[in-house]
Amino acid sequence: MIEAFQLSKTFKPKGRKTPLVALQDVSFAAQDGQITGLLGPNGAGKSTTLRILAGLIRPNEGGATVDGYDVLSDPHNVRRTLGFLPHNAGLYPRLTARENMAYYGRLYGLTRGDTRQRIDSLVEQLDMQAFADRRTDGFSQGQRTKVALGRALIHRPRTLILDEPTNGLDVMATRNLRRILRELRDAGHCILVSSHIMQEVSRLCDRVAIISEGRVAMTDSLEGILTRTKQQDLEDAFVVAIGESPEAFA
Ligand SMILES: Nc1ncnc2c1ncn2[C@@H]1O[C@H](COP(=O)(O)OP(=O)(O)O)[C@@H](O)[C@H]1O
Ligand SMILES: [Mg+2]
Repeated sequence: MIEAFQLSKTFKPKGRKTPLVALQDVSFAAQDGQITGLLGPNGAGKSTTLRILAGLIRPNEGGATVDGYDVLSDPHNVRRTLGFLPHNAGLYPRLTARENMAYYGRLYGLTRGDTRQRIDSLVEQLDMQAFADRRTDGFSQGQRTKVALGRALIHRPRTLILDEPTNGLDVMATRNLRRILRELRDAGHCILVSSHIMQEVSRLCDRVAIISEGRVAMTDSLEGILTRTKQQDLEDAFVVAIGESPEAFA
């Protein structure tokens, strides 16, 4: 489970006089056994939120817990319980898919034997047999995402955070990723996914937190969001939730 309490974050970009407010009072929760979507346009603050939750950057105010561990005071345990798929996750091009995952297995303190077993089962689960022993240099976006996901899952994390995981994936790869995330959800994992694509979120997520300009505008089930905004589809609901009239930009 993930809980974020009133997160605020400002950046001071070089050459800019006024600080840039990336997040203001962001609160939401993501439960075990559910896929929660953080939905918002580019620049809304999704990656900043996820990076705070993963313990990579600190908020100016507020706090968060992951599986009960405090992100600020106990980042070590947060990293242990969490699998994180960053936006445009880089792989080591000279290493094979297996070697990329093995590197992370060792970083997480798995034994050699356990790492090998774990990789075997991930290669099967994520259907990577055809390319598991090739260097990742030249991999398709779908193949890269699978390796990055395998890497994020290597230490059997209870909670999984994925930053725009379907970016650059074709239809079949996207469907495949959805199937994998649903399986993990059904096994009881807590999954938090960010996206700027409404259709993506409406197909995948059980609950949605709508974020815009650094603030959470609404958090509810998909149905709840449609009911509360009196709309039929998530795109219109999104526009209403962030405070525009539904005809805006239609
Ligand atoms: N390291 C940084 N330095 C300066 N500004 C940043 C930094 N990271 C993010 N921002 C700014 O914070 C805002 C939110 O960014 P981000 O969280 O990446 O949005 P999203 O992931 O929703 O597209 C944007 O205005 C972005 O330019
Ligand atoms: Mg982002």
